Amino acid sequence: MRKITNPKKPLSRREASILSPLRYPGAKRRLAGYVAEVLRLNSLRPKLFVEPFAGGASVSLQLLNDDLVEAVALGEKDPLVTSFWKIVFSDPEWLIERIESIEVTVDNWKYFRANSFRSNKDRALACIFLNRTSFSGILASGSGPIGGYSQKSQYKIDCRFTISTIAKRIRQAARLKDRILFIDRADWRHTLEKVEGMDYGPREVFYYLDPPFYRKARRLYRFYFEEDDHNNLYNALMSIKQPWLLSYDPAKPILELYSHNGRGPKHVDLLYSAAANGNRVKSQELIITNLPYLPKETRLWRSSEEWRQPVSKTCPNGMAKKRTKIKRNGDRHG
Ligand SMILES: C[S@@+](CC[C@H](N)C(=O)[O-])C[C@H]1O[C@@H](n2cnc3c(N)ncnc32)[C@H](O)[C@@H]1O
Repeated sequence: MRKITNPKKPLSRREASILSPLRYPGAKRRLAGYVAEVLRLNSLRPKLFVEPFAGGASVSLQLLNDDLVEAVALGEKDPLVTSFWKIVFSDPEWLIERIESIEVTVDNWKYFRANSFRSNKDRALACIFLNRTSFSGILASGSGPIGGYSQKSQYKIDCRFTISTIAKRIRQAARLKDRILFIDRADWRHTLEKVEGMDYGPREVFYYLDPPFYRKARRLYRFYFEEDDHNNLYNALMSIKQPWLLSYDPAKPILELYSHNGRGPKHVDLLYSAAANGNRVKSQELIITNLPYLPKETRLWRSSEEWRQPVSKTCPNGMAKKRTKIKRNGDRHG
């Protein structure tokens, strides 16, 4: 394993960005540079990067592509999504061929929506079709086809179904197949237990967890969390020794859950997005980790080039200097 001794020295990275073929609601593409910086600041190059809530897997793909992690393990509860990834990494040309030949119509949308499929191939095709033709890429049952059932809108059902783009992204992802350790259709607990049972040394595994939002998740995903699930995840994370980083929507109950526990190391940070006028918009992402260092800069839209500029660290463990205070009466810290 490559040993990183000087956390201030940026790693050499391949610069090509790799985009997920899925337009995933809540996708964390913009977080990949931030996570790369977290790895660098904490002198980590994981042998295994684990995403138990894989969705569009954008962070895993980017870090793997940039050679910042050796291998990736993906877990995800939605069988459409896991089947999609399984076929991307095992038979991408079959999937591309089907995508090229399918008619992008509301009738086909209804067909894929109404049926549950038995084989990974059929589910993979249903996943990419529904993801690319449904409003905002939402697979959950409340979402309809882009352009509506009557297709009277300016935007039609096929406006996001650009075959060349989807094919290119599938092929890009497929090239990483040898470094995908597993893709499991599984509850997050199963993924954690599976990896914990493997023979990795300290700091050789990194868990990146991006659970369903606290708010709005049932509108976005076919599988989402109830209150207890958020608490169970919290309890599980408190006993994990390997490095982990969690991203959430900054809902007050989540802030409180992770801020007032008094158990073990924690680090809370908020990232911001750029508004069209260049100003920061309100908090977008809550970051929680058991690692000592997080980047001081918390703008989500920093380019990977910007992330590579030397940045100062936040305080180890305590956040005494840079740790931002969490207001008890609000969802944000400033
Ligand atoms: C916020 S999304 C992840 C998005 C992903 N990080 C990306 O960049 O595209 C959360 C995912 O968790 C999945 N999920 C919901 N409940 C789950 C569970 N109990 N175990 C594993 N995955 C679950 C949802 O299907 C959804 O794909």
